[in-house]
Amino acid sequence: MGVIGGDGIGPEVVAEGLKAVEAAGVRLDTVEYDLGGARYLRDGTILPDSVLDEWRQLDALYLGAVGAPGVPPGVIERGLLLKMRFDLDLYVNQRPFLLPPDVDMVVIRENTEGTYAGEGGFLRKGTPHEIATQGSVNTRMGVERCIRYAFDLAERRPQKHLTLVHKTNVLTFAGDLWERTFHEVAAEHPDVETAYNHVDAACIYFVEDPQRYDVIVTDNLFGDILTDLGGAVSGGIGVASSANLNPDRTGPSMFEPVHGSAPDIAGQNRANPVAAILSAAMMLDFLGDTDAAERIRAACTDAPAGSTTEIGDAIAARLQGD
Ligand code: NAD
Ligand code: IPM
Ligand code: MN
Repeated sequence: MGVIGGDGIGPEVVAEGLKAVEAAGVRLDTVEYDLGGARYLRDGTILPDSVLDEWRQLDALYLGAVGAPGVPPGVIERGLLLKMRFDLDLYVNQRPFLLPPDVDMVVIRENTEGTYAGEGGFLRKGTPHEIATQGSVNTRMGVERCIRYAFDLAERRPQKHLTLVHKTNVLTFAGDLWERTFHEVAAEHPDVETAYNHVDAACIYFVEDPQRYDVIVTDNLFGDILTDLGGAVSGGIGVASSANLNPDRTGPSMFEPVHGSAPDIAGQNRANPVAAILSAAMMLDFLGDTDAAERIRAACTDAPAGSTTEIGDAIAARLQGD
C-alpha cells in the first residue's frame, strides 16, 4: 500500500490513521511517497510517471491532503490528485455521511469527467476581450458506469433508495444524458426506488431534511460541493471520509479524507484525524478486512475531543482494549 501524507494537516492525520490500523492488529506493507505542494516547492516534482507506474502495482493508496500556499492553484490539485483519479481510473468517489439516528447517506460522485476534465481554454487572453471557457465532459460510458455502481450499492442497502442530483433545468445537454441513463439503468433495478433533485434544492434538503436521502449519485463538481456540505451537516468536515474506487480492480483504489490540507490549522496538532481514520477503515473494507474496518468505525464513535494526537491515541487505545 502506498502512503502519501501530502501537505498541511495531511501528514498529521495520516499518522493517526496508520496508528489506528496498527492498533486494530492489521499489518500493512507501506511505501511512503513524499509528494505534494511542499515537495513541488522544494524541487519541482509533481508526480513522476515512474511513481504512477509503481502505484499501478499496489492494491491501495492512502492520502492525507495536498495543496500548499505558495503553489499556484491547480498545479498540485490537477497534477497530482486529479491525475491519480483520472490515470488510475478511480471513477467512483464514495463519500458516506452518518449521524445517528438521523443521517445515513452515501454520495456517489462521478470522479473522472464533468468540468474536472479540463475542457476549454482562453481566447484573447490578457486582452479586454478575453474569454475563458470551461466545458463539462460527460460520456455515456462514464456516466453509465457511475450510475450502475450507485444502483448496485442502493440495492444492497436496507432502504434501496437512489436520488439523482443534477441541474437538468439549465444543463440541458449533460443533464439529459444523466437523466436518460439514470432511467434506463433504473429499469433494470425495479426494487430500487428513485428520486431526482436539482442540486440547488438538494442543498436545502441536506441542511433541513437529510433523512430523506439514502444513496445519491451526481456529477463531479456537484458531488464535490455537496460532500463538503454533507460533512458540515453530519458531524463536521473533520469526520468526512472517502474512497476513490476503481471498482473493476484493474489497479489500486485510493482512500483519503474529504477535507483538504487546512493551511489555517496546519502544524498546530489541531486537525480532527477521524476523517482520515474512517478513510483507512474504508480501505480495510476494500482490502477485505471488514472486521478490522468495523472495529475502527466503532472506536471512532463518540471520539473524545482533543488535539490530533490525543484523539488518535484515544481511538488506538480503544482498539487495543478490544
Ligand atoms: P480545507 O478542507 O483544507 O479547509 C476548509 C476548512 O475546514 C478550514 O477552515 C479548515 O481548518 C477546516 N478543516 C479541514 N479539515 C479539518 C480537520 N481535519 N479538522 C478540523 N478542521 C478541518 O479546504 P481549503 O481551505 O479550501 O483548501 C486548502 C487546500 O487543500 C487547497 O490547496 C485545496 O486545493 C486543497 N484540498 C485538497 C484536498 C485533497 O487533497 N483531497 C481536498 C480539498 C482541498
Ligand atoms: C476533494 C477536493 C478536490 C476536488 C480538489 C483538491 C481537486 O476538493 O477531493 O473534494 O475538487 O475533487
Ligand atoms: Mn472537495
